[in-house]
This record gives sequence, C-alpha cells and structure tokens, in this order.
Amino acid sequence: MSANMAVKRLTAPKIRAMKGGEPVVALTAYTAAMASMLDDHCDILLVGDSVGMVFYGYDSTLPVTLDMMIAHGAAVVRGSRKAMIVIDMPFGSYEESPQVAFRNAARILAETGAGAVKLEGGVHMADTIFFLTKRGIPVMAHVGLTPQSVNAFGGYAARGMAEGEYQRIIDDAVAVDQAGAFSTVIEGVADTMGGEITEKVGNITIGIGASKACDGQVLVTDDMLGMFPRTARFVKRYADLGTIIADAAKSFAEDVRERRFPSEEHTYKRKK
Ligand code: KIV
Repeated sequence: MSANMAVKRLTAPKIRAMKGGEPVVALTAYTAAMASMLDDHCDILLVGDSVGMVFYGYDSTLPVTLDMMIAHGAAVVRGSRKAMIVIDMPFGSYEESPQVAFRNAARILAETGAGAVKLEGGVHMADTIFFLTKRGIPVMAHVGLTPQSVNAFGGYAARGMAEGEYQRIIDDAVAVDQAGAFSTVIEGVADTMGGEITEKVGNITIGIGASKACDGQVLVTDDMLGMFPRTARFVKRYADLGTIIADAAKSFAEDVRERRFPSEEHTYKRKK
C-alpha cells in the first residue's frame, strides 16, 4: 500500500471535533472478522464488555476480565484500519483508585493499539477520568443505565424516570465532560434527557436508548443483526441473521444425513 493510500484512523480529538456536525456512528465488535465488515461504515468500533453476555453467554457483564477485553480488543484493532477503537474497562479494573485505573487502562492501550478506553460512572468517577486524561489516556464515559451496576440497580430498567434520578444523571454527564471525557455513552434513559445533556456538554454524546437528539448512536451489533434472542426496546433489528444461520445449519445437517455433502466438487482428486 502506498503512503497516499494509507487510511488514517479516527482519533479522540477528531471524534470530539464532530460536535454539532454529522452524527457519530458506533457499533460493537469483538472479533477481527466482524471489525473488518463494520469498519468502512463506523466512526467508532466499541469493544464492549457486552462481549461477556453476547459471546461468552454470561448473565451479566460482571465476569468479564481484563485479559478477555485485551484479547478481543487486539483482534478488533487487527481487523480494522479506519474506525477509532474504544475498549471497555471491565468491572473491578478501575473503580478502586485512579492509579489502578491508570495501570489497567495503560495495559489495554499498550497491548491492543486501541485509541481509548470506556468506563462506567459519572460524578463518582470524575477524579479517575481526570487522572487518566491528564496522563494521555482518552476516556469515553458511560452514564444512565450502566450494566456493571446491575446488582445495585436490581435490573436493566431504563433510568431517570423519577425527578431526583433524572437530575443526578444529567449531573453525571456534566461531571465526566468537565473531567475530560472526549465522549459519553448515555444508555437507557428518559427520552428528553439525551437532548438536554447534548446541549449542556462540550463532548460527544453517544446514545443507546437515549433518543436521536444525541451526537451519535451505538448499538450492540449482534442485537441489530438479530443474533441475540433477548433485546431491549431501544434495539432496531436491521437483519435476522439468527434465522439465516439456523436455516443454513438445517440445510447442512440434511445434506450430511442424506449423504448429499460433500459432493464431487468438494473433494480432492489425485493427479494421474
Ligand atoms: O458493552 C457494551 O457493548 C456497551 C454498549 C451497550 C454501549 O457498553
């Protein structure tokens, strides 16, 4: 590839500069193959800790480890060339102190080549976000429905329906913006909140169940492809790959049982 053809990856400052312009497009990816299919169409590929539920079959994101995020993150970097890669910090890898968060975030960036980390939390994580960003680690924050707090919330219901909580989530988004997060995911909140936060903050808001008033949108790719049975109200299904895959497996099984596969074209001939 000549130098002219080399594609420059999007970076945190470039994403940040999209405020007020074209909406930012983000999807999750966990593998190199999926990353290569999504890369041309996305500004951000998020290696979400949803990998724990979608890929590994856990009930929540809590069992996901730093090593899992690094392995999937490195695969997504290898499979893409244009999108900015953001990797989730898993539960337990950043909450203890800014120093612990720095050590683990530095490992993620050094061992994967990704452009930023994402962590869940608002006001109470602002010091950590400040600490990381001042030391060269771009941070995407995540407020509203934060899945790593499922035990504290008691489930995955939308947040901010009551007045007090509504204001607390807005305060969270303002705090992480002021702490230096280049972007904030707003997940599963009352519909007016996405727009209110987007007007108040200088960083890029990425909605998932937070209305089209956000600066950008993200979905879990497997959800929008119809590959994961349980989905939230905010998911739009753009394909039904689950059915396509099951139908293909059924056809394969019938061919094998009827001895139709492999046929001549799928076998190797010895040269005479
Ligand atoms: O883990 C994840 O995939 C996420 C998205 C839902 C934003 O955090």
